[in-house]
Amino acid sequence: MAHFEKASSITEWLDQRLAITTVKKVMALEYWIPKNINFLWAMGMVLAFTFALLTISGIFLLMYYQPNVDTAFDSVNYTIMSEVGFGWLWRHIHGVAASVVFLIIYIHMFTGIYYGSYKKGREMIWLSGMLLFVVFSAEAFSGYMLPWGQMSYWAGMVITNLFEGFSPDIAGGIMNAPGLVEWIRGDYVPGQAFLSRFFMLHVLLLPLVIIGLIGLHFAALRIPHVNNQDGEEFDYHEAAKLYKEGKTKESKVIPFQPVFLSKDVFVLGVYLIFFFYLVFYHFNFAMDPVNFDPADGLKTPAHIYPEWYFLWSYEILRPFPKDPGLIAFGFAQVAFFLLPFLDKSDTVAPANRRGLFKYWFWIMIVDMIVLTVMGKLPPQGIWNHIGLVAAVVFIALFVSLPWVTKNENRA
Ligand code: HEM
Repeated sequence: MAHFEKASSITEWLDQRLAITTVKKVMALEYWIPKNINFLWAMGMVLAFTFALLTISGIFLLMYYQPNVDTAFDSVNYTIMSEVGFGWLWRHIHGVAASVVFLIIYIHMFTGIYYGSYKKGREMIWLSGMLLFVVFSAEAFSGYMLPWGQMSYWAGMVITNLFEGFSPDIAGGIMNAPGLVEWIRGDYVPGQAFLSRFFMLHVLLLPLVIIGLIGLHFAALRIPHVNNQDGEEFDYHEAAKLYKEGKTKESKVIPFQPVFLSKDVFVLGVYLIFFFYLVFYHFNFAMDPVNFDPADGLKTPAHIYPEWYFLWSYEILRPFPKDPGLIAFGFAQVAFFLLPFLDKSDTVAPANRRGLFKYWFWIMIVDMIVLTVMGKLPPQGIWNHIGLVAAVVFIALFVSLPWVTKNENRA
């Protein structure tokens, strides 16, 4: 065993056993961040903070929520909303955070795409980020089932029905298509088995996976470091040496703590003003009015649509006939994962300084907004045609990306 001296303070005692000074140095005081970045680089921290808010508010809701088809609706809409002190506040925080987290995820993702932060050694940051996006989507969907309102029930029905499209071969030949849907639901229609398993996924399994993936995402950032506004590559050892010698002006880096963290905390403060404004004055945007009616398997709502953050991918499914629609939907789910491999240019630079990619980027943003708007409208007449065109454009954008980026010159 190592030799231990008598410690003169708690810090020294801990340091001898856990090397906390070294950990602090590696994780914070000498974790170097480029100077040349803007407020968009605080979105990662905003996301981590919002996930913490979701966890804490979720724990409070869990104290009164009942995962039972007969009592779930009342436990949310009466017990938590009117009987428990401040239950409404925790529910509004949870509901608003679940919606806003997607807004921030999209900003964070598109910042990464705009600045080319998925390339050359940063692929693992991108892939772990995309896994986080998928698991967050599953987390949001499973949470949406829990109040057991009309939209919970019917969205659960529509989404699980999608698995009918899997042929026996895709499902490994083990079960036929209707069998797969029933296996997922645990019944012929969404019922108690369905609610119980989505409850388990929402409060246990998926949050654990998210925590693991956030760990992987942070670890993946360590070696390549975060990108910067010009995509500039520089010698971190050299820059850190200058900073430590006191030449902070000449150095291209700042330490994570306290310099960068103070900037992160400022952005977080502005975000929290916006966040709590929504919680207190506009929480309804995060709650579908149809979901204030209890689930009824005999009464289909006139118009079933998902939450705003899933509308773009829903609209890639909807305008096509069933099988091509499922293939297009599957494509939309993997398209962003493939970005580091579809982009054939080595140039790490903001999109506006890249050849054809600058048009590609902005067309993609506009197209996703059009898909989102169309996804909310009823699939009739002109809306259906616009939705179809936007879905085809989305697929064409990703198919053409290798060609768009192949002979790119930096502007
Ligand atoms: C809750 C989920 C997430 C958390 C907590 C998170 C956290 C972070 C943090 C703290 C950073 C470093 C600072 C910054 O650039 O903001 C970062 C960077 C990054 N994240 Fe995420 N992230 C999440 C989801 C995602 C998603 C969905 C993607 C998209 C695929 C993504 C892609 C990236 C990329 C590419 C970078 C590197 C940025 C650069 O090098 O400039 N992240 N993330």
